[in-house]
Amino acid sequence: MMLKDLKRFMRTQKLKKWRDVVQPNPFYFDGLENLCDRIHPSVQWLKVSDIKEVSHDTKLYRLVPTRSTKVLAPFRAGQYIGLMVEINGVRTSRAFSLVSSPNQLAYYELGIKRKEGGFVSPYFLDNVKVGDVFEATEPLGNFYYNRIFHGSNLVFIAGGSGITPFISILRDISERVVPLNVWLFFGCLTEKDILFREELENILARRPNIKVNYILSEAGDEWTGECGFISKDIISKFIGSIDDKYFYIVGNRPMYRFVLDELEALGVPRHRIAHEAFGVPDDITEVEGWPKEVDKSNKIQITVDMRRSGRIDREVIEAVSGEPILNSLERAKIKEIIINTGCRSGECALCRTKLISGKVFVPPEVVIREADIANNFIHPCTSYPLSDMHLDLSLT
Ligand code: FES
Repeated sequence: MMLKDLKRFMRTQKLKKWRDVVQPNPFYFDGLENLCDRIHPSVQWLKVSDIKEVSHDTKLYRLVPTRSTKVLAPFRAGQYIGLMVEINGVRTSRAFSLVSSPNQLAYYELGIKRKEGGFVSPYFLDNVKVGDVFEATEPLGNFYYNRIFHGSNLVFIAGGSGITPFISILRDISERVVPLNVWLFFGCLTEKDILFREELENILARRPNIKVNYILSEAGDEWTGECGFISKDIISKFIGSIDDKYFYIVGNRPMYRFVLDELEALGVPRHRIAHEAFGVPDDITEVEGWPKEVDKSNKIQITVDMRRSGRIDREVIEAVSGEPILNSLERAKIKEIIINTGCRSGECALCRTKLISGKVFVPPEVVIREADIANNFIHPCTSYPLSDMHLDLSLT
């Protein structure tokens, strides 16, 4: 009996010793919570460290982490960040694709093109200087290469500043020598509007599996390349068969519509096409489904409930039908209220808000989760007020 007990005791001691041996964590792992925070920080503070002219209307901004952010969140080539800006007391945001390579996190780069009549991009190009600090979201978006679904033959179609996510993706493919075949169509107005041309030519020189075709819609006499729009004829001439190819489109709405029709005419199935379209249409009344009887200058009253200093307050703000509700909320500068935003395209759901009453119009391409629809949540960034309404911001 004694011997049995002794053996059992020794076994227990051995097991205890084994349990007490703590394996050191790998150098990059300092706890699950810290790792999650680094990958999905609630906010990133970024400082402009360099600004470079890319073309007559586009600048490249390099952003480094401030002391409070320390390290930048990793991203997948093709993703974007939402950048907060305050212009004349109005706090707003815009989504910008990351241009830099995801294989280094010393800095992010954003290419920002001036939009004539725009609110944020002219401010950026004219006022932002080295040393300025911005609040930003974590990298967001689903526009990136997926090995399982996209295959190894990729067709990228970019219009104007829509080239920016592709630059990051091409840098990634080129740096990691990923065995993919890529055909890039880059549509611009004139030769001087071809952004990142030097970078593209460098990649082409090193990677024969990547090919570029520039198409100019307002080409000068000296231009010997393709002219016009990215039509089905130009596409099939360059890529041959559409079989086994996956298509990505980035550009403004008219360009996207045009290219989509051309791809459909070529027989490309819809599930083989991905697209990224930031922002809202310039004129919502031209979007399919807009109720023709509603004038875009219709004045709307929005009653807003919000939690302020621990109690629920109510305010009434002015809006117009032809503008997203988010713009009116931001312009109203409601004290102590900050609405989270990222994409401003109805995709990230950061701005989701409870609609208590009223009617909104949402462009047909915006996809809202069924649970949000069932519970009357809207995305104010892509919702246009059609009637007086009541919103509950106390839940955001
Ligand atoms: S900001 Fe992304 S859904 Fe509104």
